[in-house]
Amino acid sequence: MSTALHPAVTVCDHPLVAHNLSILRDKNTSTEQFRATMTRLGKFIFMAATADLPMTRTIVETPLTKAECKMLSPEVPILIAPILRAGLILSELAIDIVPSASVYHIGLYRDEETFQPVTYYNKLPSTIDYSVARIFVLDPMLATGGSAVAAVDIIKKLGTDVANITFVSIIAAPEGIQHLTEQHPGIRIYTGSVDERLNDKAYIVPGLGDAGDRTFGTM
Ligand code: PRP
Ligand code: URA
Repeated sequence: MSTALHPAVTVCDHPLVAHNLSILRDKNTSTEQFRATMTRLGKFIFMAATADLPMTRTIVETPLTKAECKMLSPEVPILIAPILRAGLILSELAIDIVPSASVYHIGLYRDEETFQPVTYYNKLPSTIDYSVARIFVLDPMLATGGSAVAAVDIIKKLGTDVANITFVSIIAAPEGIQHLTEQHPGIRIYTGSVDERLNDKAYIVPGLGDAGDRTFGTM
């Protein structure tokens, strides 16, 4: 399903990812269609990002016999960390796929003059062993990488090894990948596309515009 292009980055190159990305990029796509498409597309990328979750063996009695099965390891908590706002749309599908996950909302916005991230919300689940947890930071857009770096800074302070942190995005810019991997070597990045570049307003080109505004209809 996925093609590794850079040691840190996996681009999900499935035809349905490309198809749904085209719908998201189209400026004429309605808010309703944008949300539905983001959810559909995010599932592919989240599934790829979670492909190596640790498993444990178990015996299950089927109606016919005992079967050797595998389940998610109960010793490894899974934490979904959406960056508000746009990450919320991805967290809904992630919880749907991994119902046992806890959610750590990280409120960050990018100051549109300095492009620096500003933190405004940080609500941490208290019952998690952060030293072993697998953490999935969700944000559709990796642009300058400032928001992603700030979110991972916050998570690393909890005692998490960067090897257990995966950044899940829909579109990434080369500049953001460089910044995030330089600041947090060892992090893994899953995305639907690595686009060309940033423009002078630090928007991803060709991109899809403002992911938060298009998701929540606040254009
Ligand atoms: C967008 C996006 C990322 C950030 C990416 O959020 O969802 O969080 O910009 O840009 P960066 O890589 O240059 O930091 P925004 O700041 O627009 O906030 P919003 O989701 O609340 O609209
Ligand atoms: N944030 C977005 O929502 N889109 C971009 O292209 C860059 C930052």
